[in-house]
Formats: sequence, structure tokens, C-alpha cells
Amino acid sequence: MKTSKMQRVFGLLMITLFMSVAAFGQNKPTIYILATGGTIAGQGATEVTAGYKAGAITVDQLLSAVPEIKDIANIKAEQVANIGSQDMNDEVWLKLSKRVNELLKGDADGIVITHGTDTQEETAYFLNLTVKSNKPVILVGSMRPSTAISADGPRNIYNAVAAAVSPLSTGKGVMVVMDDKILGADDLAKTNTLSVGTFRNPNYGPLGIVYNGKPIYTRESVKRHTSKSEFDITHVTKLPRVEIILSYSNATALFVDAALKAGAKGIVVAGVGNGNMTTVMQNELEKATKQHGVAVVRSSRIMTGPTAQWDEVNDDQLGFAASWFINPYRSRVLLMLALTKTNDYKEIQRMFSEY
Ligand code: DGL
Repeated sequence: MKTSKMQRVFGLLMITLFMSVAAFGQNKPTIYILATGGTIAGQGATEVTAGYKAGAITVDQLLSAVPEIKDIANIKAEQVANIGSQDMNDEVWLKLSKRVNELLKGDADGIVITHGTDTQEETAYFLNLTVKSNKPVILVGSMRPSTAISADGPRNIYNAVAAAVSPLSTGKGVMVVMDDKILGADDLAKTNTLSVGTFRNPNYGPLGIVYNGKPIYTRESVKRHTSKSEFDITHVTKLPRVEIILSYSNATALFVDAALKAGAKGIVVAGVGNGNMTTVMQNELEKATKQHGVAVVRSSRIMTGPTAQWDEVNDDQLGFAASWFINPYRSRVLLMLALTKTNDYKEIQRMFSEY
């Protein structure tokens, strides 16, 4: 069948259009969005009431609220879990970290992880210590469910993808992007039960901001992370059990004994002041280190300032380590990973000084 000149010109135009769209698509970075649940995927009874169920919508439903991310990246989405992050657990951590490492060895230029805010600081730190790549890995959550008026999730997701596609985000360690702030996993804390600006870096200050769809960095982490971390969970199927024990007026050794009976290999003390505790608790912990080889790390229930060595507690005499700027929740994460390599308190102290 003879084709007219017009048909040939139209065909050429369509091929050119298709190739330029394809080329443009290929030029956009590929960002994988891994969903784990949380309020960001939450669904409320109405747009205005507080009650809602976390982890109620799927990653595809979540991303349908922020189609603009497809303008800046090739988006691929996976549902890793769909839980309230108060139920986050070692199994999801190991699965998530292994999947992130697998994707970053492949076509992923960056990863965005949607996550509940209750334990986001713990997951972010676990990934900061176990992801073996310099490519951007950014966690994002929200304080309002997806169905709420002025839901903060869509904007947080857009900002997280905007940071993930930027070359400026390479080598920064694992980050959290929320409320227009870029926060480092190295010093992350949820500081308010309800506010959309809840996450802070209380000791080190934020890494930067996302403004007008672009990351602006104002600091870099001086702590070891990601490709410079000595921890490798590739073949780890179970993490050592570490418990956190709070000290307070008149605290006894009750929870020390309970932790030891439950098989804890490590104990983090969320101590008073500079990681202090009652004498009865300290004596029981000294026995645990010297007679049972349990690792003990002193941290503090106070949000800012270090839990420092060489103060009221003689760590060397007790066989304890001090957590310095690592709060009790992140100390537990670091001690779990430390115990996959050693229970020597001097080696553990080195790790708490470097990470
Ligand atoms: N259920 C809590 C969680 O998944 C809600 C907090 C939130 O995600 O903002 O962490």
C-alpha cells in the first residue's frame, strides 16, 4: 500500500516524539519508594477527627496524592510492610536494609522510605549503620493521616523525592525529610507527640532544608555511616537482644534481672543526668558484665548533651561504655550491631565514639 508524503511525515514526527519522551524519561533519576506503613499511610474516619488507622492505604494509593513526583523522577514503588511503626521489628529492619542494598547495587539512584514517626529515628539509624552505599536514602513520615485536611504526607513525600534526586544528597548518610527540614539519622529525635515539626537534630542541628523543590545543605555528619560503616548484615538473620532500662528515683534492679532472664546480651541504661543510676542498679549491672559477659552502655534520659566518660561513673572499673551523643534508642541499635562483632567494652566504647 503506497503511503502519502503526509503519512510519512506524521510517522516520523510520532517516532521523534516517542524517542524524546523516552530519552527524557531515561534522563530522570530512578527513585524507589519503599512503603512500611505509618500515619502517612493512615486513614481517618473523617478529614477533621483525630482518630485514624496507621498503615491503612497502599503505597500506590499514597503516591496517587502526589503525582508531581513523576515530573522529577522515574518512580518505582514496593510495599515492604504496612504497620504502625510502634510495631516496627528486627525482621522488617533486616528485610528493609537488605532490599535497600540490593536496589542500590542495581538501577536505583536513590531510595525513599515511607515510615511511621514513632520509631522512625530507630529505623533511620539502623539503616545509617547498615546501608552499604553513598546513594541517597531518605525516610519520610507524616503527623497527619492521608485523609486529613492539610495532610503533611504529600508535601513531605515530594520534598523527600526532590532531595533524593539531587547529587548534593550523595554521601550524606541516611536522612529524614519532614516539615521542609532535612535531618540526619546521626542525631534524630521525635520531640513532640503531635506537631508536624516534631523531628529535630537536638545536638547537631539539621542537615539543611528543602526549599522550592531543592535541598539546601548547611552541615554534614562527622560520624561514620553507610559506606564507611563496619557493620554488614548481609548474612545476619537474627539480631542480638538488647534492652533499655530507665533509671529514676528509687529504681531497683528489677528490670536488670528481668532483662538477663529474657536472654539480653546487652543493656542500655537511660540514666539520670550524665548517665547515672541508682547504686543497686549499678551493682547488678556490674555483676552482669563481669559474671555473664553482658554489654552495658550508659546513656541518658535527657535529650541534649553527651553521656560522657570520666565523670561520676568509672566505666573502666565497671566494664561499661558511655554513649556520648547517642540517645538510648539509637544506643540500643548501635549496641545490637556491635554485638554481632564483639562484647568487649573497650571495642564497644570505640564504636560509640565513632558512630
Ligand atoms: N502509629 C504511629 C506510627 O506509625 C503514628 C505516628 C505517625 O506515623 O506519625 O509511627
